[in-house]
Amino acid sequence: MAILHVVGARPNFMKAAPVYRALAKVGFEQVLVHTGQHYDVQMSDVFFETLEIPEPDESLNVGSGAHAQQTAAIMSKFEPVVQARKPEIVLVYGDVNSTVAAALVCAKLGIPVAHVEAGLRSFDRTMPEEINRLVTDQLSDLLFTPSPDGDENLKREGISPEKVFLVGNVMIDTLVQFLPKAEALFPALRERLSLDRFGLVTLHRPSNVDDEAIFLPMLRTLGELSHDLPLVFPVHPRTRTRWLEELRNCSPNLHVIEPLGYLEFLALQKHATVVITDSGGIQEETSYLGTPCLTLRENTERPITITAGSNVLIGRDWERLRREWDKALRQTRNTQAPIPLWDGKASERIAEVLAKKISTAESGRL
Ligand code: UD1
Repeated sequence: MAILHVVGARPNFMKAAPVYRALAKVGFEQVLVHTGQHYDVQMSDVFFETLEIPEPDESLNVGSGAHAQQTAAIMSKFEPVVQARKPEIVLVYGDVNSTVAAALVCAKLGIPVAHVEAGLRSFDRTMPEEINRLVTDQLSDLLFTPSPDGDENLKREGISPEKVFLVGNVMIDTLVQFLPKAEALFPALRERLSLDRFGLVTLHRPSNVDDEAIFLPMLRTLGELSHDLPLVFPVHPRTRTRWLEELRNCSPNLHVIEPLGYLEFLALQKHATVVITDSGGIQEETSYLGTPCLTLRENTERPITITAGSNVLIGRDWERLRREWDKALRQTRNTQAPIPLWDGKASERIAEVLAKKISTAESGRL
């Protein structure tokens, strides 16, 4: 009888790593399943290595595909693994297709599911991640939330508060653990990029990069901003596939590079003057680091990064982007109090809950 973790895409790896470690300390037997949703070395392998995650016990190698195809492939390959391994509980992370696929399989087999990073809502059902979040939370037996808004959302959706545990943010556990290592490699990284002051950009959401009427004006604005301050842009495969030429020709001050490893990217987030992104995790990491973050989305499932952090929602208002950019360039770094429970100990709190639940569980049901 073991705890089985499911990971699949880049943002899962830094969430699962500290939970795996905390559960190992408590002495749980663990099984790690990698769905293969992300498979490039830079999107997957380097994270396992850096974050010291053990080799997966099972690799499903599903690869890319349309949503239905990818989700179905994960489900059909994951089901026999669960049947063979008979875990006590399955842990799923975040909001990617691997998360919802695994939760669905377990719910139908009657295997308890715990969702790490439960309760977040953008209230925008055009986002595939929002659908994944809603469905996963409905199917989960234990829900670990990073912030009180998560608890409120779950309550409103009729989920019993007994299943919900406010534990804090596991991504920050990884950040706290690895920040010293990231700092140590920053001088060499700065030299390699030959940049002293810089901004950092990431864009990969379908709503931003799949439509040229949206992406091209966005890129043009970034090109203009890069004349004030050079921008480093590690490009996600989704964005690279569609726009490599346009990115390369945009501006000599827009430094288009391959996706970075965890430590390099963390070092750049820490030392950037400003970050421009559409990622969920980066809104959280910059909030912890106090780096101004301009989010190119109309909404966020992480409102606490706005009320208690350093995040500003820009939407698609390029004038607003310029104004907030100017403000950020003049701003001294955010030194406000850290967000409660974003303290590097969320995984320990998860391990405590699981240890208690599993030792008191009757007939395998939590
Ligand atoms: C997925 C998640 C998103 C998360 C993001 C982080 C879903 C619905 N979306 O989006 O929430 O923020 O990961 O990266 O699960 N590709 C490669 N190599 C890889 C992985 C992907 O080339 O290792 C390319 C493929 O062309 C693929 C495309 O990127 O079709 C998109 O990958 P996919 O996993 O479907 O979604 P992401 O956009 O990465």
